[in-house]
This record gives sequence, C-alpha cells and structure tokens, in this order.
Amino acid sequence: MDIRGINTSLLDWTGEALALGFFEEGTEIKGELSQLDEKLTGTLKDLILETEFTGKSGSKAITRLGGNSPIRKIILVGLGKAEDLKLNGVREGAAAIARLAKQEKLKNLALSLPLVDNDGAKTAAAIAEGIILALHQDHRYKSEPDENPLKLETVEILGCGEATEAVSQTQTICSGVILARELVNSPANMITPVTFAETAQEIANNYGLTLEILEQEDCEKLGMGAFLGVAKASDLPPKFIHLTYQPSATPQKKLAIVGKSLTFDSGGLNLKVAGGSIEMMKMDMGGGAATLGAAKVIGQLKPNVEVHFVCAATENMISGHAMHPGDILTASNGKTIEINNTDAEGRLTLADALVFAEKLEVDAIVDLATLTGACIIALGENISGLWSADETLATQIKEAADQAGEKFWQMPLEEKYFEGLKSPIADLKNTGPRPGGSITAALFLKQFIKETPWAHLDIAGPVWTDKENGLNNAGGTGFPVRTLVNWVLSFSSGV
Ligand code: BES
Ligand code: MN
Ligand code: ZN
Repeated sequence: MDIRGINTSLLDWTGEALALGFFEEGTEIKGELSQLDEKLTGTLKDLILETEFTGKSGSKAITRLGGNSPIRKIILVGLGKAEDLKLNGVREGAAAIARLAKQEKLKNLALSLPLVDNDGAKTAAAIAEGIILALHQDHRYKSEPDENPLKLETVEILGCGEATEAVSQTQTICSGVILARELVNSPANMITPVTFAETAQEIANNYGLTLEILEQEDCEKLGMGAFLGVAKASDLPPKFIHLTYQPSATPQKKLAIVGKSLTFDSGGLNLKVAGGSIEMMKMDMGGGAATLGAAKVIGQLKPNVEVHFVCAATENMISGHAMHPGDILTASNGKTIEINNTDAEGRLTLADALVFAEKLEVDAIVDLATLTGACIIALGENISGLWSADETLATQIKEAADQAGEKFWQMPLEEKYFEGLKSPIADLKNTGPRPGGSITAALFLKQFIKETPWAHLDIAGPVWTDKENGLNNAGGTGFPVRTLVNWVLSFSSGV
C-alpha cells in the first residue's frame, strides 16, 4: 500500500473514492465543496440529507456515484466540534475511513481532512498513522487466507503538500508499533525468552544497534537474585537483553527504557486461576515488546540521543525449582526482598533491570510494565498509570503521549503507603495490601533507583484490547511505542 501526500486540488482529483472530513454543525456545503458538489451533480448535499449526516465524531456515510463520474464513491466522516479538533481526531477519522475502504474493497482512495495547527506535514503524518494502524491485522497464525483481504493499493492525502518525509517517518514508527503488537499477540510457545532475545538480535543486526545479552551466569555474577528468583522454575534460560543505540554525533541526552518482559506469567506457586487472567498472560511482555518496538524505530530514525533498551526476559512458572512464597531474595543493589506473593514477579525482574540501567549513567530512566491488575481497576483499559518524582520527566512523557494520542494519568508516589511493604525479616516485601496496589508496586520499584530521574508506566490496561478500538484491532495494541519514540525524538535536533 502506497500512501503519499499529493498537491492535486480537491476539484481536480479523480479516482475510485474520495473521503471528506466534516465538523459537527459544519455540514453546510460551501466554497470549494460547493464547486465539487456541482461537479458531482449534488451528490454531497443529497448524501448529507438522506443519511442525516451530522459530522459528529464517529459518524460516517458512503454513496456510489453513477455513470461516468470521475469519482466512483464518496465517503463522509464526522470529526466532532471544530474547536475540539486535535491531531488524534484526524488520526481516528483516517482510521474510520481506512476501515470503510477495506470493507468496500477499494483499491484507490483520497482523503481530504482539515489541517491541524495549520501544519500539513503533521496532519499528513497523523492521517497515515491512522490508516496504517487501523488496517494492520495479525493473521500470522491462521492457515487460511483472510476472507476479505485488503485491496487498497494507493492512498492519496490531499491538502497537506507532499509531506514525503513526514509520511515516511510515520511508516517507520508504525513498523515499531506493529512489531510490538505482534510480539504481544504471539503466544508463550512462540515468544519465549530465547526467541524474544532473537528478535532483539535481529533489530541490532538490521538497524546497527549493539546488543549485549547477559546469560544466567552473567546475571548471577552481577547478583541479580530478584530476576533469577523469578526465572528459577522455567525450563527456558532467562535472557537479560541490553540493546544500545549510539548516535554518530555526540548525544544530546542519554536515556534508558526498561520493559517488563515476562513471556508468560502463570503466577508461580501463587498460581493464577482459570477465568481470572492466566489465559491472557502471554501479554505480560508488553513492556518489553514496546521497548523493542521503540528500538526498531529509533535505530532507523537515528536521533542524536543515546538510548539503552533493557529487557529482563523470563517466564514465571511452577516446578520443584520454583521460588516459594516466603523466600528471601537479594537484588543486585544488595536489598533483600521477602516474597509474600510469587505473582508479584514483574517488580522483581524490574528491580535488577533498574539497578542495571542506573549503572549506565543515563540522564533519565523510564520503565514500562504490565505490572498490576490494580492499575486496570483504577484507570480502566485505555489509560496507563504514570508515576514519577521528577515533574520535568513526567511532563515530557505527558507531552509525548498527548502528541501520540496515547493516554496516561499521573498517579501519586505516596511515601506513606511504603508502610505496607515493610517486612519483619527482610528489607522489604514484594507485595503490599490490596488497596492502592499499583501505588505500592511503584514504591517497590523506587527502592531500586538511587538518584536518576525515573518514571514508571503501568501499561497493564492499554497493551491489549478485546475489540476494535480507535486505531487498534482486537489484540495487542503496540502501546506506548509512539509515546516512547516522541519522547526520545524530543531531545534530538534534526529528526
Ligand atoms: N502481570 C500481572 C499484572 C496484570 C494483570 C497484567 C492483569 C495484565 C492484566 C502481574 O504480574 C500480577 O500478577 N500482579 C498481581 C500483583 C499482586 C499479586 C500484588 C496482580 O495485579 O494481581
Ligand atoms: Mn504476576
Ligand atoms: Zn506479571
């Protein structure tokens, strides 16, 4: 599928289908549109009247034009109130058009949507992003071909200029989102710590990053007792993955992204129950998946920023080797942890990963993790929790997320709640009481950071969706690759 900005005017475009964006209370046909409507013998006005099209966000209408019309189909898409339009409105409008184009088996499509912030390149990029992500479907594990395969060959964006670079950058970003989606969708017998590490190796080879993999013995030497405690019951070797993107010029910043990478979370001896969430726990490497997705993008866009991508990959399983509830583990910073619940394993793997990341002497660390069910209870499935004691970093993440149209809500690092993590026998327990469970999880992680600005993202809700939603189809969403990429690029001059 070829997506490009073209300079052809709305009145001169000919082809299979033309999609037009309308604002709520803005469906009056005037100016250039009335000239177009004349050319189309009044079809626009008729379609608006007949379908009672209002321009409300999410509304759509389509019709076929007869005879020798230079355009065969017209699609109308509602964008909501003009004053509320943001980049994401255009992104989701484009996604709705793309879905209709697939359903209608269109080969050729043009879109004319309003410019956001009068910025053609930015608007074209958002349109391309909406289209690519809404059309991506993961059929890798189906033996029969798609019954309704995509026919779309060319998509032309009108009114934004050629925007060649912006669209090509979007394609790169989407390739990272799609990688993250596919990793999350892959079951635990396909994506294991070993194959996850192989994916990191491919990224390193293809895009010139360096890869260091710490095997079990290397982790032992570094004293990573928390990570290795989780890995103990798995028949598969743990892989501690460290990918580095080093720019050719002096970096303007050094950053670390740390992703929770449990390729399966059975809960361990505190086994999860069926009908709870055990069936979903292939997605427990969603943080690591987005980390690798971001690495794939950063390796191609080559910003002037040094970025370390860290994934402590393993499974949380049961066997005679499993850590017992009550065990005491020692993390690589020397802290001792009493395991009062083997299902709070993500924070144990992250503890050693954060200690490792801080030793890299970066300017900021962001971790992302499908860490707690409590965060889903607090914020629902579309919003990720964000914790940081560093307001500058928190603001950077929120701005990056806002541009991406990915949702975060800042939550408190309420020190008083640390009481709940005190252990009579070790430095701390791995699990606090049920209330505020996502906050105590964040406070647990904080024990493994000394002084580097750090933010924690609990992405348990948004990494997965059961049904089509905005730019996502059922399955892994690739959240928050786009936010991470925006955050890294915000420090770079030139990209
Ligand atoms: N991976 C889970 C969290 C999770 C739950 C992610 C549902 C996505 C959907 C995590 O390892 C976990 O089991 N957390 C426990 C913590 C508890 C034992 C303190 C939880 O949330 O129940
Ligand atoms: Mn768990
Ligand atoms: Zn988990």
